[in-house]
Amino acid sequence: MAKITREKFKTWGNVFDQFTVRNLFELSSKGHFEALKSPISIGKEANIFSAEREDGSLIVVKIYRLETCDFNRMYDYIKYDARYLNLKAKKREIIFSWAQREFRNLMKSREAGVRVPLPIHCKDNILLMEHIGGKEAAPKLKDAHPDDAEKFADKIIDYMKKMYSAGLVHGDLSEFNILNWNEKPVFIDMSQGTIVRSANSEELLDRDIKNMCRFFRKTGVKREEADVKKKITGKE
Ligand SMILES: Nc1ncnc2c1ncn2[C@@H]1O[C@H](COP(=O)(O)OP(=O)(O)OP(=O)(O)O)[C@@H](O)[C@H]1O
Ligand SMILES: [Mg+2]
Repeated sequence: MAKITREKFKTWGNVFDQFTVRNLFELSSKGHFEALKSPISIGKEANIFSAEREDGSLIVVKIYRLETCDFNRMYDYIKYDARYLNLKAKKREIIFSWAQREFRNLMKSREAGVRVPLPIHCKDNILLMEHIGGKEAAPKLKDAHPDDAEKFADKIIDYMKKMYSAGLVHGDLSEFNILNWNEKPVFIDMSQGTIVRSANSEELLDRDIKNMCRFFRKTGVKREEADVKKKITGKE
């Protein structure tokens, strides 16, 4: 029996609506976690918490906010994804699909050999995944430049290639959505990830490449966008 009470989640009352509180309660009753700890990040669309499990280990709980999500932007992005072509412009349906898409993208990337947080469970607007880091969450790449920038850049390009070969494009890749954990990259924030055969995938890939080459330059690593693209896609 989980020790958690509904009251515990109500303390986050200003952050969560009743629907989310019920889902959090259900997930914790099923033994996924005992209690939410303080937030790691309050983002544009989602709040990220670490949560403690019964054995003291941590997981990450990503909660897409139902009230303040920019679901028009979400819909604009997801409507091109060949997996979601029949999606209607209904607010909740879009947010749930958005969370589910992140879960699927994490799973697919992991299977392709890309280091990402292991996705554990997805329920409506809530995604549970592996916590990257130790007691504290691992730093973002923007805040923790790598010691060996050349090697780190090549690993990132290798991961982009692995994703592409598995039919995926990250779609929001930058030093904000890569963690530096023990000098190795971990890709996160995959809700914008789309499949290669979607109409806008090339545009998203080009943007990812541009963002990464810009960051590489900041760390003294020269990589030409066209060369990187060729490496990833195998095409000129
Ligand atoms: N699995 C994880 N392990 C450790 N830290 C994480 C994990 N997932 C997310 N974080 C932390 O939470 C932050 C926000 O996560 P994420 O990028 O997935 O959400 P977001 O809604 O896109 O937020 P933002 O609007 O700030 O980009 C990350 O930058 C990272 O610092
Ligand atoms: Mg992010």
